[in-house]
Amino acid sequence: MVTTPFHANRPMLVILDFGSQYSELIARRVRELQVYSEVLSYRTPIAEIRERNPQGIILSGGPNSVYDRHAPHSDPALWDLGIPVLGVCYGMQLMAQQLAGGLVEPALKREYGRASLRVDNSTDLLKDVADGTTMWMSHGDAVTRLPKGFVKLAHTENSPCAAMADHERHFYGVQFHPEVVHSVGGMALLINFVRNICRCEPTWTPESFIEESIADVRAQVGTKRVLLALSGGVDSSTLAFLLHRAIGDQLTCMFIDQGFMRKEEPERLVKLFRDQFHIPVVHVQATERFLERIKDVSDPEEKRKRIGHEFIQVFEEESSRLGPFDYLAQGTLYPDVIESSGENIDPATGERVAVRIKSHHNVGGLPKNLRFKLVEPLRRLFKDEVRKVGRVLGLPEEIVNRHPFPGPGLAIRILGAVDYEKLTILRDADMIVRQEINASGLYHSLWQAFAVLLPVKTVGVMGDQRTYAYPVILRLVTSEDGMTADWARMPYELLERIATRIVNEVTGINRVALDITSKPPGTIEWE
Ligand code: XMP
Repeated sequence: MVTTPFHANRPMLVILDFGSQYSELIARRVRELQVYSEVLSYRTPIAEIRERNPQGIILSGGPNSVYDRHAPHSDPALWDLGIPVLGVCYGMQLMAQQLAGGLVEPALKREYGRASLRVDNSTDLLKDVADGTTMWMSHGDAVTRLPKGFVKLAHTENSPCAAMADHERHFYGVQFHPEVVHSVGGMALLINFVRNICRCEPTWTPESFIEESIADVRAQVGTKRVLLALSGGVDSSTLAFLLHRAIGDQLTCMFIDQGFMRKEEPERLVKLFRDQFHIPVVHVQATERFLERIKDVSDPEEKRKRIGHEFIQVFEEESSRLGPFDYLAQGTLYPDVIESSGENIDPATGERVAVRIKSHHNVGGLPKNLRFKLVEPLRRLFKDEVRKVGRVLGLPEEIVNRHPFPGPGLAIRILGAVDYEKLTILRDADMIVRQEINASGLYHSLWQAFAVLLPVKTVGVMGDQRTYAYPVILRLVTSEDGMTADWARMPYELLERIATRIVNEVTGINRVALDITSKPPGTIEWE
């Protein structure tokens, strides 16, 4: 968790997290309104909250009941801070429970999904929120008696009190989730709270972030040298641009070419940085080493492990050769910061449990005991904010909008053992997939689009000849965050063009199949 306040004169909101899957989303919505916000655990001591000088606090939802024995409670001193508070779902119930006179009980009817909001009082929080607008509900408890000083603002068919306010103290509670996309009037409500009630000016912009980060980085590293491992993804590329602007040639970008990138990508990356943006990149060509290290290895996790270890070894060798460096730049993002401190309470035992479990470790991840100090200027940003910052810094769209690409690259898209021949075959097939998806204009509608090479051979016929060659699988998926995914319904004509071109143009492949499995139960990658 970030403990030092970030530019204390910047208007900001604190989101107190009670374990909701939407806490992060609330923060993102507030930031979309150009107001900086941070997600903090509900356990955060009041002094730490005060240090940030927030202009308002939002209490998130949560999976517990406020009357569970081990239900998470915030410090009651919160109510004496003298700043506006908005409680969302569990947050509203907590408000009702902690403030005198309120009562929370199991609802007569659980309410889940869309509900029509009937506005009874549209003074401030619900100003411009249309009567009858759709809001997203997900709760089993309800506020059955308002705390002293509160009035009801709205109801729904199943919730006699769906929103409440104490206009004097600026305390507000809503039973629904204004932050989710299904809540049609949600953004209007958040604008009312953030801009009008908390009086936050819109100052959180990519430009202001860049300006402040540059000053911070300069102050942090002084005249020392910084090393950055560039992968070509949007995070490390944005980081490279930002740091180069901040410290110029004190920055060394190192690109370790494992040999598992897509066709022409390593050359393009280095050329783009070097020639177009005048950011020198040390291109470490390590294909042979990596291939040797995973020779005959079929197990996917063993492959990942060996690639990861080799990466660290190459990194250490090269950094001592190019160094010494005092600092290592890392593209840590805000979700990583929240995740590493994320917690939830098991209502049965009162023990902390992790909210989210990271499913993958990027092979670019480096061990903690390296001798460098860290520079992590992106640690306040969500992924979509990194893209905005990258764009303002002049990063080309092809990098800003790049689909995710796994650290071990094509090595986990060649099932079983990896060798040069298979890499060449898959690279050529993958190139055709990319070319056709780009030409179709559908690139942006997809989360990822790629080919997977199977380690078996199938029979085909070409001209008068029988062929015996590898099949590839097309994996085209849509997704919001990679945690779940659906197979993309692409036009038949596009699929046909991809299949025809691959079989005609790539020697070694004679069959193309389409993966129509969603995640879950499938994963996006095949290994
Ligand atoms: P799965 O296959 O688990 O993938 O559905 C979810 C997302 O993670 C990416 N992925 C990886 N990324 N190292 C990475 O950096 C890995 O080992 C790895 N495996 C999967 C995958 O491309 C998708 O975006």
